[in-house]
Amino acid sequence: MRLDKLLSECGIASRKETAKAAKAGQITVNGIPATKADMQVDPIADVVTFCGRAVKWREFVYVMLNKPDGYVSATEDSRGEQVVTSLLPEEYQKMGLFPCGRLDKHTLGLMLLTNDGQLSHRLLSPKRHVAKTYAFRVKFPLSEKDVSELQSGVDIGGYLTKPCTVTLTDEREGRITLTEGKYHQIKLMMEAVHNQITYLERITFGPLSLDPALSRGEWRELTDGEIAALNQS
Ligand code: URA
Repeated sequence: MRLDKLLSECGIASRKETAKAAKAGQITVNGIPATKADMQVDPIADVVTFCGRAVKWREFVYVMLNKPDGYVSATEDSRGEQVVTSLLPEEYQKMGLFPCGRLDKHTLGLMLLTNDGQLSHRLLSPKRHVAKTYAFRVKFPLSEKDVSELQSGVDIGGYLTKPCTVTLTDEREGRITLTEGKYHQIKLMMEAVHNQITYLERITFGPLSLDPALSRGEWRELTDGEIAALNQS
């Protein structure tokens, strides 16, 4: 791989910036100053530094974000809304991370961001039935009949939702686990039983659980174990 490609994929420097830094002797490959931005490097075996900092190349990056209120699940927005990727450092944004699936603007919690299009596609595929659990609060008490209807499936705009699991922790609070992800699904399901969501937070996504150490707006990279679990799910 070309040195300038490696540095741009890592979000560290553009091709132009790499050429400039190489000329200024700010890049080393295996301890030797790299004078040519287009030199070939092995991204795994070679040790590259940029301005004294070691460069770690990865083909894909996986990030868990605790989504705060008011952010839209996008990488850019023409209406001037705040986007979830703006919560990541610039170098991660330059690596092309995008949200894997959507959460509504006012939904909080576990959001996965990656530049691995294939994994994202698999996790979101309706055929895979990847489970997602949400903690919710609603405006009015939910009856046993409401819970039973929600669990067996309700009509949301002509679509009958698939069976799901609902457990109440209080008459207006609980958890719901879905294996599908229609637009505004939980909001519409609650409306179908004449209720209204007042709080929604995703707490699991397949094998991942929202890390309690992450405050709203905070993020961390997934561990190798979490990435392996996602690939198996
Ligand atoms: N269902 C909703 O209604 N909103 C979300 O953000 C996620 C699931």
